[in-house]
Amino acid sequence: MQLIDGKAVADQIKQEIAAEVAQIKANGGKTPHLAVIIVGHDGGSETYVAHKVKSCEQVGFKSTKLAFEASITEEELLGQIKLLNEDPDVDGFIVQLPLPKHISEQKVIEAIDYRKDVDGFHPINVGRMSIGLPSFVSATPAGILELLKRYDIKTSGKHCVVIGRSNIVGKPVSMLMMQKACPGDATVTVCHSRTKNLKELCLQADIIIAALGSPKFLKADMVKEGAVVIDVGTTRVPSPLTKTGFKLTGDVDFENVAPKCSYITPVPGGVGPMTICSLLRNTLLAGKKAIYK
Ligand code: GUN
Repeated sequence: MQLIDGKAVADQIKQEIAAEVAQIKANGGKTPHLAVIIVGHDGGSETYVAHKVKSCEQVGFKSTKLAFEASITEEELLGQIKLLNEDPDVDGFIVQLPLPKHISEQKVIEAIDYRKDVDGFHPINVGRMSIGLPSFVSATPAGILELLKRYDIKTSGKHCVVIGRSNIVGKPVSMLMMQKACPGDATVTVCHSRTKNLKELCLQADIIIAALGSPKFLKADMVKEGAVVIDVGTTRVPSPLTKTGFKLTGDVDFENVAPKCSYITPVPGGVGPMTICSLLRNTLLAGKKAIYK
């Protein structure tokens, strides 16, 4: 069994991005600029945004954080998005989710200029990704494919079972795994809460991507010997053993599943650290106008 070290790969990618940014600056090019909008004071969101801003610094990007109180109206927020859409210095921006209930997330996502949508959530980016056109791919699916690529894990002709059908992980990662590309070219089965023979399907899988958000859901008796297991789960489970009082727990019963796998991602330190890299990569592409002019 080989552990997939997402933290080490993410550090490597950050170094690669930093080197490219240094080169761009040395050539007199524009410093890539990411803006992040955060609304309210959700603890998780504030931590994620702080990480994103810090990572921008690490690779030499300019970043701008725009923080608004939860009382901001939808109209005001849409006004702020319009300003960022029109600001020529901002290459890409994201609106951290979730948003307060009185604001429509879908309206917000669709208000972002798709050419600056470095989260890859806009329907134009999702649609283009689905039909294999250049696009901003959302962070978690892109991070998963990058890990498969860097560990040289063969996907062509393999049976990949995705557990979960969310718009930000299950659906896009399924599309990418079936794409005529490398990684890709897999036969993909998407399972979800209504799937009847989930265990049977998982036992047929060469690659399992668990993204349903249910701690330790995937058990050893659901995994074939030699399978590759990618764990996307990040549920905060209460724990008396940590300082914070909770422990990040994946969708895989790691202790019992790992011995059966050829490769497996841990939680934390697997897919998680890769997601910020994907955001940085998209921002770099946006800065270079590499996808859209
Ligand atoms: N909330 C949790 N993950 C994400 C993400 O990747 N992007 C945004 N904008 N919000 C999130």
